[in-house]
Amino acid sequence: NSVLVLHGPNLNMLGKREPEIYGSDTLEDVNVALGTLSKDLNVLVSCYQSNHEGDLIDAIQAADGKHQAILINPGAYTHTSIAIRDAIASVALPTVEVHLSNIHKREAFRHHSYIAPIAIGQICGFGVNSYYLGLRALVDYLQKCQA
Ligand code: DQA
Repeated sequence: NSVLVLHGPNLNMLGKREPEIYGSDTLEDVNVALGTLSKDLNVLVSCYQSNHEGDLIDAIQAADGKHQAILINPGAYTHTSIAIRDAIASVALPTVEVHLSNIHKREAFRHHSYIAPIAIGQICGFGVNSYYLGLRALVDYLQKCQA
């Protein structure tokens, strides 16, 4: 199995960006750790970050037939992008939404996710562990589906 990992806008700034909220690990640290974890879980991961909504949509569309699932931190597009939600719905790949911070205990505008209703589930609030927990949950889900 192969999982497409998508990081949305401003996540390239991880480690430098509001470290009291998002922590000190860089995006490269996260991608390397996901790569290591993927070997334990016996899956392939392919990581991509973009600050552009259309690029993320192109990557989701291109995932069809190439990957079996999507792990996504849509960043602020979580709260605004019907287009990213529609792209995920159109490829019908099982998707897990992750966030470093607990969006539900932050500003009200972060409480709503356009992605959550079409995701298998959402993991938030565990810092970089949200990604690792998300990948584990997704791989477990795929194995159960394919059993
Ligand atoms: C985030 C939460 C979003 O509200 C915010 O816009 C981000 C990061 C997180 O990982 O905690 O860019 O997705």
